[in-house]
Amino acid sequence: MSEREAITKGSRRTFLQLSAAATAAMAFRIATEATLAAEDRNTFHPGAVVIDANENPLGPCDAARKAIVDMAPQGGRYSFWLKEEFVKTFTGMEDLKPEYLRVFPGSSEPLHFSVLAFTSPTKSYVTADPGYEAGMRAAKFTGARIAKTPLTKTYAHDVKAMIEAAPDAGLFYVCTPNNPTGTMTSHSDIEQLLAAKPKGSVVLVDEAYIHFSDGVSAIDLVKAGQDVIVLRTFSKIYGMAGIRCGMAIARPDLLAKLETYGGWSAMPITAMAAATASLKHEHLVPERKQLNAAIRQKTFDWLDRQGYTYTPSQSNCFMLDAKRPAKEVIDAMAARNVYIGRPWPVWPTHVRITVGTLPEMEAFQSAFDAVMKNFTATGYAASLSLKTRRSYSDGQCWPRVLS
Ligand SMILES: Cc1ncc(COP(=O)(O)O)c(C=O)c1O
Repeated sequence: MSEREAITKGSRRTFLQLSAAATAAMAFRIATEATLAAEDRNTFHPGAVVIDANENPLGPCDAARKAIVDMAPQGGRYSFWLKEEFVKTFTGMEDLKPEYLRVFPGSSEPLHFSVLAFTSPTKSYVTADPGYEAGMRAAKFTGARIAKTPLTKTYAHDVKAMIEAAPDAGLFYVCTPNNPTGTMTSHSDIEQLLAAKPKGSVVLVDEAYIHFSDGVSAIDLVKAGQDVIVLRTFSKIYGMAGIRCGMAIARPDLLAKLETYGGWSAMPITAMAAATASLKHEHLVPERKQLNAAIRQKTFDWLDRQGYTYTPSQSNCFMLDAKRPAKEVIDAMAARNVYIGRPWPVWPTHVRITVGTLPEMEAFQSAFDAVMKNFTATGYAASLSLKTRRSYSDGQCWPRVLS
């Protein structure tokens, strides 16, 4: 019996036995990009260039900032109606019935709840490799087998391989654009997956980065009544990672299964006001999409000139092949005060780069150039001598900004 089963079936004795034997790794935690990026991160120094967590350096748009400030005096009240207004705005724009939408403080929660709801020791979790790791953490908790399939030659999810890898699948996780590669899986591939998947399994389409791309959303498949859950977040193009708002979009019976695990807390009213204002801002998405694409292209042009290869991203992140052990490169870059993203074990010489502002990407280029030209044992040793790797507050591992 897995730990999750012990909890849900109420077997306190088994749960206690399991807990006694449990390592910290078995504890259920919501993994987010912030916690995953922080796990390996050196301490920030003043003026650091931080392009390791797929954050948006622009933050919320002006209308969202104003909405937050205007809402602050109401902070003593729950004001549930603000969530209603948000739901009405989004579902109106997408021509969706309100009962097909649930709002959460970010999409990490519904991602984890979907894994809890649809995987178990007899129902596998199927994902791409490299792919976003959070769902795998939740699958470890449910005791599900984790089936990882390589991306195709064009860096799409290999839906045929995913189906072959798990006739016992409970949940297929498709992240498009993919974190960490920024590459797309087509709508027709998702349709193919839905048509061929085992009965009773569900496809979770994570559209956290879709606004940066030309990709077609899978929301139409939700409307068509398919076994699909779509995730959206305001943490990426909308620049609200610290404000927290995300959504699950699915048939009401699928959403009801997620509700067993959470999603009942009141939403922060500042998040609701800012998210609604952002949705109503008609130029936000096209303008930011264009800006991100232009900075990404400049970075790619520079990498081309230097002879490096990278994944053909349509997002705000990409994988760069540094052609040497990723950890060494990450540490050497950190020693130059540029924090780049973590590696994925399947691609040991690749590092994940988040597209920041133009000055940040110029700083990245100079640091990367210097690191790669002067890569010596001394440089690597120097990077290891950075003072504090981590500090801890309220039991959580978190990086500390040195003053
Ligand atoms: C692929 C993917 N899904 C979901 C999330 C969840 O983000 P949040 O909880 O901030 O909405 C992230 C965060 O970076 C992500 O990269």
